[in-house]
Amino acid sequence: MEKMWAGRFEKALDKQADDFNSSIHFDKKMYKEDIAGSIKHALMLSTVGIITKEEYEKIADGLTSILEDLENGTLAFDENAEDIHMFNEAELTKRIGDTGKKLHTARSRNDQVALDLRLYMRNQANGIIALLKELIGALYTQAESNQGVIMPGYTHLQRAQPITFAHHLLAYCMMLMRDVTRIEDALKRMNYSPLGSCALAGTTYPTNRDMVAKALGFDGVCMNSIDGVSDRDYCIELESAFATIMMHLSRLSEEIILWSSWEFKFIELDDSYTTGSSIMPQKKNPDMAELVRGKTGRVYGDLMATLTMLKGIPLAYNKDMQEDKEAIFDATETVIKCLGVFIPMIKTMKPIPENMYAAACKGFINATDLADYLTKKGMPFRSAYKVVGTIVGECIKKNTTLDKLSLEEYKAHSDIFEDDLYNEISLETCVQKRISKGSTGYESVKEQLTYVKEFLK
Ligand code: ARG
Repeated sequence: MEKMWAGRFEKALDKQADDFNSSIHFDKKMYKEDIAGSIKHALMLSTVGIITKEEYEKIADGLTSILEDLENGTLAFDENAEDIHMFNEAELTKRIGDTGKKLHTARSRNDQVALDLRLYMRNQANGIIALLKELIGALYTQAESNQGVIMPGYTHLQRAQPITFAHHLLAYCMMLMRDVTRIEDALKRMNYSPLGSCALAGTTYPTNRDMVAKALGFDGVCMNSIDGVSDRDYCIELESAFATIMMHLSRLSEEIILWSSWEFKFIELDDSYTTGSSIMPQKKNPDMAELVRGKTGRVYGDLMATLTMLKGIPLAYNKDMQEDKEAIFDATETVIKCLGVFIPMIKTMKPIPENMYAAACKGFINATDLADYLTKKGMPFRSAYKVVGTIVGECIKKNTTLDKLSLEEYKAHSDIFEDDLYNEISLETCVQKRISKGSTGYESVKEQLTYVKEFLK
């Protein structure tokens, strides 16, 4: 296929160089956005009198027929075309003749690709927001139905203090809610149209950039044409938001993997989201969670690739920038696929409250509450901390727990201890008594549930 730019050259591009240079095998994803952008561009050209109304209609009809044929499978992408922009334009000219050649007036592929990628990513980012909200909803539902389920809360992966399973899951809701707003922020900043920046310097034609921007749902136009064609900040912002989502999913994955092990057995994953082993008949592996954890690295890599690609290139467009797409497409698809399995995995996950409770009974996770008990009765906290530390040491030696020591044994350490201490260190009381905002206390968890519900509205 002869290149559109062939005029200046005496020789055709080498086959291997051509393949290396081509991007159609990945930028064909943006066929819809490319066509939508071209139709609005042509409409603007006709409105300001650069082409006639009839020419616009011919172009719009031609492009619409290409879109239909691509979608119903009667037209295949020509893998020999350099990119999706060249493909659509060549196909248009094939269909409507010379009028098709007028489409590229007052436009360059540099602003065209910048436009297409913004439109495409705006769509994808909104899709990811919807998925994130679905996941937050799934975690919310699990939290709501497990408000009374007590488990050990950990620091350093050592049992620390009693919490509820609901409280733990709600922590992830908060993270994922921030992820939603991170994408929303990026969407606000990126919602300006680069089209009309042309190659880099703008154009001598009397175009109306604002009109095209408005027709394509942008809040305005990029105010500097050089920036318009050079800016990929929004890719970095989105990739960074995606990397953060993956980091959050990966942390939760790690917990799901731990929780579903025999060592913990806090949850049971549904059979549909686990796999067996080829040799060990008893195995039920949390592959989905492991894969999500494993795929986190490639999304980090996509972010790094884009940052690195951009750092050394002078303004304005450089071919390096073609590398923006594979990275951000990969990051986008990875996040979408991960959320796609994560949502039903969370929805079908079954907590095992007895095991969580049994784990909470061991490990002296009510020791802080015992120290608080002494403190509330007048002992300075540091002294109370020391007394309780000594008592815990005694329990370890005697192979027993705080709730099983007799009052006499307690009194040997301090006169302050009375019979009411047992109620104070029961796990239920420990949770109940946590009244600070955001805490694991039942009331606080209810407040957090309302907060999440409001967000999802
Ligand atoms: N396929 C190219 C890309 O993705 C389109 C822009 C080409 N512009 C150019 N001046 N060669 O970046």
